[in-house]
Amino acid sequence: MRKDRRPYWVKKNYLRFRAWYTQHFLKPACDYLGDYPTFMKPWYISISGPNIEIGRCATVIGEPESRVKIGVWGLDEESGRIKIGDYVLISPGTRISAANEIVIGDSVMMANGVYITDSDWHEVYDRSRRSEAVTPVHIADNVWLGDHSTVLKGVTIGENSIVAACAVVTKDVPANVVVAGNPAVVVKKLDSDKPMKTRADYFKNPEELEIFFDGVDKMVLSENRFLNWCRAIIKPNNCD
Ligand SMILES: CC(C)(COP(=O)(O)OP(=O)(O)OC[C@H]1O[C@@H](n2cnc3c(N)ncnc32)[C@H](O)[C@@H]1OP(=O)(O)O)[C@@H](O)C(=O)NCCC(=O)NCCS
Repeated sequence: MRKDRRPYWVKKNYLRFRAWYTQHFLKPACDYLGDYPTFMKPWYISISGPNIEIGRCATVIGEPESRVKIGVWGLDEESGRIKIGDYVLISPGTRISAANEIVIGDSVMMANGVYITDSDWHEVYDRSRRSEAVTPVHIADNVWLGDHSTVLKGVTIGENSIVAACAVVTKDVPANVVVAGNPAVVVKKLDSDKPMKTRADYFKNPEELEIFFDGVDKMVLSENRFLNWCRAIIKPNNCD
Protein backbone atom coordinates (compact mmCIF):
# COMPACT_ATOMS: atom_id res chain seq x y z
CA MET A 1 0.00 0.00 0.00
CA ARG A 2 1.42 3.37 -1.02
CA LYS A 3 -0.97 5.50 1.02
CA ASP A 4 -2.06 5.31 4.62
CA ARG A 5 -5.74 4.52 4.20
CA ARG A 6 -6.44 4.19 7.92
CA PRO A 7 -9.07 6.47 9.40
CA TYR A 8 -7.58 8.81 12.00
CA TRP A 9 -9.27 6.97 14.88
CA VAL A 10 -7.83 3.61 13.73
CA LYS A 11 -4.31 5.01 13.72
CA LYS A 12 -4.88 6.72 17.05
CA ASN A 13 -6.00 3.42 18.61
CA TYR A 14 -3.09 1.60 17.01
CA LEU A 15 -0.69 4.13 18.59
CA ARG A 16 -2.44 3.73 21.95
CA PHE A 17 -2.06 -0.05 21.73
CA ARG A 18 1.61 0.31 20.75
CA ALA A 19 2.27 2.58 23.72
CA TRP A 20 0.43 0.19 26.04
CA TYR A 21 2.48 -2.77 24.74
CA THR A 22 5.72 -0.86 25.35
CA GLN A 23 4.73 0.08 28.89
CA HIS A 24 3.31 -3.37 29.69
CA PHE A 25 5.95 -5.67 28.20
CA LEU A 26 9.15 -3.72 27.48
CA LYS A 27 9.35 -1.20 30.32
CA PRO A 28 9.39 -3.98 32.95
CA ALA A 29 12.27 -5.61 31.04
CA CYS A 30 14.37 -2.50 31.77
CA ASP A 31 15.72 -1.19 35.07
CA TYR A 32 14.79 2.20 33.71
CA LEU A 33 12.96 3.42 30.61
CA GLY A 34 12.65 7.19 30.24
CA ASP A 35 9.58 9.20 29.25
CA TYR A 36 8.34 9.54 25.67
CA PRO A 37 9.58 6.26 24.23
CA THR A 38 8.60 5.62 20.60
CA PHE A 39 8.89 1.89 20.13
CA MET A 40 7.60 1.04 16.66
CA LYS A 41 6.28 -2.52 16.22
CA PRO A 42 7.47 -3.19 19.78
CA TRP A 43 6.49 -6.87 19.47
CA TYR A 44 9.64 -7.24 17.31
CA ILE A 45 11.90 -5.73 19.99
CA SER A 46 13.44 -7.97 22.61
CA ILE A 47 15.05 -6.75 25.84
CA SER A 48 16.54 -9.40 28.07
CA GLY A 49 18.85 -9.71 31.06
CA PRO A 50 19.60 -7.51 34.07
CA ASN A 51 20.73 -3.88 34.40
CA ILE A 52 19.37 -2.35 31.22
CA GLU A 53 18.64 1.38 31.20
CA ILE A 54 17.26 3.39 28.29
CA GLY A 55 16.87 7.17 28.53
CA ARG A 56 14.03 9.44 27.48
CA CYS A 57 12.70 9.98 23.96
CA ALA A 58 14.18 6.74 22.61
CA THR A 59 13.10 5.74 19.12
CA VAL A 60 13.41 1.99 18.61
CA ILE A 61 12.12 0.36 15.43
CA GLY A 62 11.29 -3.34 15.27
CA GLU A 63 10.57 -5.17 12.00
CA PRO A 64 9.50 -8.80 11.60
CA GLU A 65 12.46 -9.70 9.41
CA SER A 66 14.96 -7.71 11.47
CA ARG A 67 14.22 -7.64 15.16
CA VAL A 68 15.99 -5.35 17.60
CA LYS A 69 17.73 -7.31 20.36
CA ILE A 70 19.12 -5.66 23.46
CA GLY A 71 20.52 -8.20 25.88
CA VAL A 72 22.84 -8.63 28.85
CA TRP A 73 24.37 -12.05 29.44
CA GLY A 74 26.84 -11.50 32.28
CA LEU A 75 29.10 -14.14 33.75
CA ASP A 76 26.66 -14.44 36.62
CA GLU A 77 23.00 -13.62 37.04
CA GLU A 78 23.43 -10.02 38.18
CA SER A 79 26.49 -8.85 36.26
CA GLY A 80 26.75 -7.01 32.99
CA ARG A 81 24.92 -3.84 32.03
CA ILE A 82 23.72 -1.72 29.16
CA LYS A 83 23.13 1.98 29.65
CA ILE A 84 21.64 3.87 26.75
CA GLY A 85 21.30 7.66 26.95
CA ASP A 86 18.50 10.01 25.94
CA TYR A 87 17.18 10.68 22.41
CA VAL A 88 18.78 7.62 20.77
CA LEU A 89 17.67 6.05 17.50
CA ILE A 90 17.85 2.26 17.25
CA SER A 91 16.94 0.95 13.79
CA PRO A 92 15.67 -2.49 12.76
CA GLY A 93 18.07 -5.39 13.12
CA THR A 94 20.27 -3.66 15.68
CA ARG A 95 21.78 -5.98 18.29
CA ILE A 96 23.40 -4.73 21.47
CA SER A 97 24.91 -7.62 23.45
CA ALA A 98 26.73 -7.03 26.71
CA ALA A 99 28.69 -9.44 28.89
CA ASN A 100 30.38 -6.61 30.86
CA GLU A 101 29.35 -3.06 30.07
CA ILE A 102 28.06 -1.15 27.09
CA VAL A 103 27.43 2.56 27.63
CA ILE A 104 25.83 4.54 24.82
CA GLY A 105 25.54 8.33 25.08
CA ASP A 106 22.77 10.78 24.24
CA SER A 107 21.53 11.31 20.66
CA VAL A 108 23.42 8.30 19.32
CA MET A 109 21.98 6.99 16.03
CA MET A 110 22.19 3.34 15.08
CA ALA A 111 21.26 2.47 11.48
CA ASN A 112 19.86 -0.87 10.32
CA GLY A 113 21.70 -3.99 11.36
CA VAL A 114 24.21 -2.39 13.73
CA TYR A 115 25.95 -4.84 16.06
CA ILE A 116 27.59 -3.71 19.31
CA THR A 117 29.24 -6.28 21.55
CA ASP A 118 31.66 -6.04 24.46
CA SER A 119 32.76 -9.67 24.34
CA ASP A 120 33.94 -12.39 21.97
CA TRP A 121 31.66 -14.73 23.92
CA HIS A 122 34.04 -17.73 23.47
CA GLU A 123 37.69 -18.23 24.42
CA VAL A 124 39.99 -18.37 21.41
CA TYR A 125 41.75 -21.61 22.48
CA ASP A 126 38.92 -23.23 24.39
CA ARG A 127 35.74 -22.52 22.58
CA SER A 128 33.65 -24.48 25.02
CA ARG A 129 34.40 -21.74 27.60
CA ARG A 130 32.97 -18.26 27.77
CA SER A 131 35.39 -15.40 27.37
CA GLU A 132 35.95 -13.80 30.79
CA ALA A 133 37.90 -10.71 29.70
CA VAL A 134 36.41 -7.41 30.87
CA THR A 135 36.24 -5.25 27.79
CA PRO A 136 33.61 -2.50 28.05
CA VAL A 137 32.38 -0.50 25.09
CA HIS A 138 31.72 3.24 25.43
CA ILE A 139 30.03 5.23 22.69
CA ALA A 140 29.92 8.98 23.34
CA ASP A 141 27.12 11.47 22.63
CA ASN A 142 25.90 12.05 19.10
CA VAL A 143 27.82 9.20 17.46
CA TRP A 144 26.26 7.89 14.23
CA LEU A 145 26.74 4.19 13.53
CA GLY A 146 26.09 3.48 9.84
CA ASP A 147 24.19 0.64 8.25
CA HIS A 148 25.42 -2.83 9.31
CA SER A 149 28.44 -1.46 11.12
CA THR A 150 29.94 -3.47 13.97
CA VAL A 151 31.55 -2.23 17.18
CA LEU A 152 33.67 -4.86 18.88
CA LYS A 153 34.90 -5.37 22.45
CA GLY A 154 36.87 -2.75 24.34
CA VAL A 155 36.17 0.09 21.92
CA THR A 156 35.53 3.73 22.88
CA ILE A 157 34.09 6.02 20.22
CA GLY A 158 34.42 9.79 20.75
CA GLU A 159 31.69 12.40 20.51
CA ASN A 160 30.06 13.15 17.12
CA SER A 161 32.08 10.60 15.22
CA ILE A 162 30.56 8.61 12.36
CA VAL A 163 31.10 4.94 11.65
CA ALA A 164 30.54 4.35 7.93
CA ALA A 165 28.26 1.66 6.56
CA CYS A 166 29.59 -1.89 7.06
CA ALA A 167 32.67 -0.72 8.99
CA VAL A 168 34.06 -2.99 11.69
CA VAL A 169 35.43 -0.98 14.61
CA THR A 170 38.13 -2.85 16.49
CA LYS A 171 40.08 0.06 18.03
CA ASP A 172 39.21 3.33 19.78
CA VAL A 173 37.89 6.13 17.58
CA PRO A 174 38.61 9.78 18.48
CA ALA A 175 35.88 12.44 18.58
CA ASN A 176 34.73 14.25 15.42
CA VAL A 177 35.97 11.88 12.73
CA VAL A 178 34.55 9.49 10.15
CA VAL A 179 35.89 5.93 10.23
CA ALA A 180 35.31 3.33 7.52
CA GLY A 181 36.42 -0.11 6.40
CA ASN A 182 37.36 -3.37 8.06
CA PRO A 183 39.16 -2.79 10.34
CA ALA A 184 37.82 0.76 10.52
CA VAL A 185 40.31 3.60 10.08
CA VAL A 186 39.88 7.37 10.09
CA VAL A 187 38.99 8.55 6.59
CA LYS A 188 37.90 12.10 7.37
CA LYS A 189 37.84 14.76 10.10
CA LEU A 190 34.61 16.62 10.79
CA ASP A 191 34.64 20.40 10.49
CA SER A 192 34.45 21.64 14.08
CA ASP A 193 33.45 25.17 12.89
CA LYS A 194 30.14 23.86 11.54
CA PRO A 195 27.27 23.92 14.03
CA MET A 196 25.99 20.43 14.88
CA LYS A 197 22.25 19.75 15.30
CA THR A 198 21.49 16.66 17.31
CA ARG A 199 18.46 14.56 18.24
CA ALA A 200 18.54 16.34 21.59
CA ASP A 201 17.64 19.56 19.71
CA TYR A 202 14.87 17.76 17.82
CA PHE A 203 13.35 16.41 21.05
CA LYS A 204 13.69 19.64 23.02
CA ASN A 205 9.94 19.73 23.57
CA PRO A 206 8.58 16.17 23.14
CA GLU A 207 5.07 17.12 24.23
CA GLU A 208 4.86 19.74 21.50
CA LEU A 209 6.19 17.22 18.97
CA GLU A 210 3.46 14.75 19.89
CA ILE A 211 0.81 17.43 19.43
CA PHE A 212 2.34 18.41 16.09
CA PHE A 213 2.33 14.84 14.72
CA ASP A 214 -1.17 14.25 16.01
CA GLY A 215 -2.26 17.36 14.11
CA VAL A 216 -0.59 16.06 10.93
CA ASP A 217 -2.35 12.68 11.30
CA LYS A 218 -5.66 14.41 11.87
CA MET A 219 -5.18 16.48 8.72
CA VAL A 220 -3.85 13.70 6.47
CA LEU A 221 -6.17 10.87 7.58
CA SER A 222 -9.39 12.78 8.28
CA GLU A 223 -10.94 11.93 4.87
CA ASN A 224 -10.20 8.20 5.17
CA ARG A 225 -13.27 6.01 5.58
CA PHE A 226 -13.36 2.73 7.48
CA LEU A 227 -14.92 0.65 4.67
CA ASN A 228 -12.46 1.97 2.11
CA TRP A 229 -9.58 1.06 4.44
CA CYS A 230 -10.99 -2.50 4.74
CA ARG A 231 -11.33 -2.65 0.94
CA ALA A 232 -7.71 -1.47 0.52
CA ILE A 233 -6.50 -4.30 2.78
CA ILE A 234 -8.57 -7.01 1.09
CA LYS A 235 -8.43 -5.80 -2.49
CA PRO A 236 -5.72 -3.13 -2.93
CA ASN A 237 -5.39 -1.33 -6.25
CA ASN A 238 -2.62 0.85 -7.66
CA CYS A 239 -4.24 4.00 -6.26
CA ASP A 240 -3.77 2.63 -2.76
C1 LIG B 1 30.00 7.66 6.73
C2 LIG B 1 29.37 8.47 5.64
C3 LIG B 1 28.12 9.21 6.17
C4 LIG B 1 30.43 9.49 5.21
O1 LIG B 1 29.95 10.27 4.16
P1 LIG B 1 30.87 11.48 3.62
O2 LIG B 1 31.22 12.40 4.74
O3 LIG B 1 30.19 12.06 2.42
O4 LIG B 1 32.22 10.72 3.24
P2 LIG B 1 32.93 10.58 1.85
O5 LIG B 1 32.00 10.02 0.83
O6 LIG B 1 33.64 11.87 1.55
O7 LIG B 1 34.01 9.44 2.17
C5 LIG B 1 35.27 9.70 2.72
C6 LIG B 1 36.17 8.53 2.35
O8 LIG B 1 35.70 7.35 3.02
C7 LIG B 1 35.38 6.31 2.09
N1 LIG B 1 34.17 5.66 2.56
C8 LIG B 1 32.98 6.25 2.86
N2 LIG B 1 32.10 5.34 3.29
C9 LIG B 1 32.73 4.15 3.28
C10 LIG B 1 32.34 2.84 3.63
N3 LIG B 1 31.12 2.58 4.10
N4 LIG B 1 33.26 1.86 3.52
C11 LIG B 1 34.51 2.11 3.07
N5 LIG B 1 34.94 3.36 2.72
C12 LIG B 1 34.06 4.35 2.83
C13 LIG B 1 35.15 7.04 0.78
O9 LIG B 1 35.41 6.20 -0.31
C14 LIG B 1 36.15 8.18 0.87
O10 LIG B 1 37.43 7.69 0.56
P3 LIG B 1 38.50 8.60 -0.27
O11 LIG B 1 38.75 9.79 0.62
O12 LIG B 1 39.66 7.70 -0.44
O13 LIG B 1 37.82 8.98 -1.52
C15 LIG B 1 28.95 7.59 4.43
O14 LIG B 1 30.11 7.11 3.74
C16 LIG B 1 28.14 6.36 4.86
O15 LIG B 1 28.64 5.33 5.28
N6 LIG B 1 26.80 6.49 4.69
C17 LIG B 1 25.84 5.49 5.11
C18 LIG B 1 25.09 6.06 6.30
C19 LIG B 1 24.02 5.11 6.73
O16 LIG B 1 24.29 3.98 7.09
N7 LIG B 1 22.79 5.59 6.73
C20 LIG B 1 21.67 4.76 7.13
C21 LIG B 1 20.57 5.58 7.81
S1 LIG B 1 20.93 6.02 9.48
